[in-house]
Amino acid sequence: MSTPSTMTTLNTPPLLQLTGLVKHYPVRRGLFSRMTGAVRAVDGVDLTLEAGQTLGIVGESGCGKSTLGRLVLRLIEPTQGRVVFAGTDLGGLAPAALRAQRRQMQIIFQDPYSSLNPRMTVGQILAEPLRLHGLHGGRHTQRVAELLQTVGLAPEHAGRYPHEFSGGQRQRIGIARALAVEPKLIVCDEAVSALDVSVQAQVVNLLQDLQQRLGLAYIFIAHDLAVVKHIASHIAVMYLGRVVEYATKEALFAAPRHPYTQALLSAIPVPEPGSQRQRILLAGDVPSPANPPPGCPFHTRCRHASDRCAQETPPLAGPDQHAVACHFWRDIEAPTLVRSAPLNRRLQRLQSAFVN
Ligand SMILES: Nc1ncnc2c1ncn2[C@@H]1O[C@H](COP(=O)(O)OP(=O)(O)O)[C@@H](O)[C@H]1O
Ligand code: SF4
Ligand SMILES: [Mg+2]
Repeated sequence: MSTPSTMTTLNTPPLLQLTGLVKHYPVRRGLFSRMTGAVRAVDGVDLTLEAGQTLGIVGESGCGKSTLGRLVLRLIEPTQGRVVFAGTDLGGLAPAALRAQRRQMQIIFQDPYSSLNPRMTVGQILAEPLRLHGLHGGRHTQRVAELLQTVGLAPEHAGRYPHEFSGGQRQRIGIARALAVEPKLIVCDEAVSALDVSVQAQVVNLLQDLQQRLGLAYIFIAHDLAVVKHIASHIAVMYLGRVVEYATKEALFAAPRHPYTQALLSAIPVPEPGSQRQRILLAGDVPSPANPPPGCPFHTRCRHASDRCAQETPPLAGPDQHAVACHFWRDIEAPTLVRSAPLNRRLQRLQSAFVN
């Protein structure tokens, strides 16, 4: 029998629910800018994220990760589909109500420098969202000092300008600015991708620490599965605007089911010294999302493709909460570990930076 507390949990909607989310950008040509096609940046995504958890989103450049992140915050309007945040459908909200909801969702980018006003001090940058949202009354200086300390900087840093900081410190300022409005969800769009690997590890550790202290949820977007591995509780692998595999991090790394995931995983180091996954090279580039292949969108690059794959689109489905969009995943063996030549230096450093 359910206890009252489990009943409450069951009745609580997930923090975020994406249903049938689509974003097509029109392609216009000619004198009258007639619409001649569409870039299918996001092409039917269903995902759920619970409070306090981290959803990692991975895939090659151009597969729709940033567009998905922007749709979640409703920085762009979806062509179709719904974004429900803490039980509220963002699609039905008037501008003022949407602004209030947005306070609970923040985004940080790869290059914080481009989003930090170079003419403002860090103190002014952090006080701005407090002022905009009418938070912390006249105690902005104290709150700014608190925010700086929360991200591992010092209150004295408030008087400095963004150019006086290193890349890692600037990302900490970006995180502090996101935290200023006390969000429940932060979308991190390649937030550590430009940083040196040891700094990447520090920022990822900071994000994890903040998650535990503040109960934050993250959508952590990266093209590097090795980084996502250290922060995500669940992982969605995207290809040409669709999720092709979704599972807990443990299940995905233990037995990837989609040939695309297997190829991405084969490129990253494994914990066993001297071992490596059998490397699967992906032939060619990602096809244009303005003209995606029919059937399974991955069939032009898949080494397991057959006639059926070019005709029939596989749905995202599967047992054990481990979903995969492939007709033949049951027949495809996950690549095995092989004794390897030494890892390249970047991978070695990445691996050692994340050793727990
Ligand atoms: N504003 C836009 N107008 C037209 N096409 C866009 C726009 N934004 C993104 N795209 C296209 O949508 C696709 C997905 O882009 P994006 O979401 O940035 O991918 P990712 O973040 O995975 O690299 C790409 O082909 C990109 O060129
Ligand atoms: S459906 Fe076919 S082409 Fe697509 S991933 Fe599976 S085997 Fe490859
Ligand atoms: Mg992107």
